Amino acid sequence: MRRYWVPAALSSELPDTDCSPIRVRLLGEDLVAFRDSEGRLGLLEEFCAHRRASLYFGRNEEGGLRCAYHGWKYDVSGQCVDLPQQPAYAPKIAICSYPCVEAGDVVWAYMGPPELRPDPPSVEWATIPGGQRYVSKWLQYSNYLQGIEGAIDSSHVSFLHRYEIEQNPLLKKTAATDFIKGDPNPEFDIDRTSGGLIVYAKRRDREGRAYYRITQMLMPWFSFPPPFGQHPLLCQAWVPRDDESCMVWSISYCTDRALTAEERAAMADGGGINVTYVPGTFLPVQNRTNDYLLDRAAQKAKKTFSGVAGLVAADVAIQESMGAIVDRSLEHLVHTDKAVVETRRMMLEAARAHARSGTTPPGVSGESQRIRPGCVILRAEADVREFLKEGQLRVGDRPVMSV
Ligand SMILES: [Fe+2]
Repeated sequence: MRRYWVPAALSSELPDTDCSPIRVRLLGEDLVAFRDSEGRLGLLEEFCAHRRASLYFGRNEEGGLRCAYHGWKYDVSGQCVDLPQQPAYAPKIAICSYPCVEAGDVVWAYMGPPELRPDPPSVEWATIPGGQRYVSKWLQYSNYLQGIEGAIDSSHVSFLHRYEIEQNPLLKKTAATDFIKGDPNPEFDIDRTSGGLIVYAKRRDREGRAYYRITQMLMPWFSFPPPFGQHPLLCQAWVPRDDESCMVWSISYCTDRALTAEERAAMADGGGINVTYVPGTFLPVQNRTNDYLLDRAAQKAKKTFSGVAGLVAADVAIQESMGAIVDRSLEHLVHTDKAVVETRRMMLEAARAHARSGTTPPGVSGESQRIRPGCVILRAEADVREFLKEGQLRVGDRPVMSV
């Protein structure tokens, strides 16, 4: 994971020069992020080299972050630039820092070896004008992989989201709804790409047609679920804070138009693939401390399948319900878990190859990140790969089709 750019913070969390520093937890490390007087981004280990006070309580002023305890001050590179008690000692003192870039309203950090720093993030939503995207994030108390395994698993939509796919104001009822409800047993097929996987989930109807939901998984934490109705395209990322929690990023974007004010307002209100928050936090209002506001009456009345309202809240509830790190040795997988299996296989292979010989893992190169999801209805006997052909899902083309 240290070979990739890591989504670290919303740009809006660091709105101005000399703004308040924020805490960031990434890949098991406690960090503090700030924007200095010249607008440069700093991402430093959270604790002062002197007596280990948290720099979160520091003063962000005059080109650096100054510890509130005894006034030691660090620039964005982690170098101590002022040490009031013993000034000559300052050049010898530095704390860990990671380089950052800003793209797509997100501050990305690179936590790997400096000489292997990759191309800047090239996922499509990070390269289009800001008016065409909406970015949000929330805290999830599970291992990141449980999130990805949900995102690439189209089969759960026929159950967990069964009633809500018709009710979400940003989704609307479409032909897709009938296929998803009508065929709970999709056939999975998978292609490997240079950055991850293309997952085809095929559902049939009685008229001999097939609806394909084509999800892309991009290493090491992205998923691009297929478009639904007129909803903007989606990308999600499950970024580990540590082994037992992750930050879930959700990006809704249009490649050919700005989002409307109504769409933005609905997303800010928790619509689509977004949430509302416990004030002052990134914790969803529906969370594990209140059973996600489980409503058994709504479940009985078939308003929701699980009793948990909302597409995101239902996913979070289920993924957290498995425990922070689910014990995979107790699972019983079936044919609709093909994408789950292939994702695990690909990640294990990449991790082992990297550990063995430093092999660059899939999805590091900018080229491998320029992908889109899609969906299409074809005759059931048609070959979806024939239809898609090489490159048809890449940036620059329209999404295959919206239904
Ligand atoms: Fe889901």
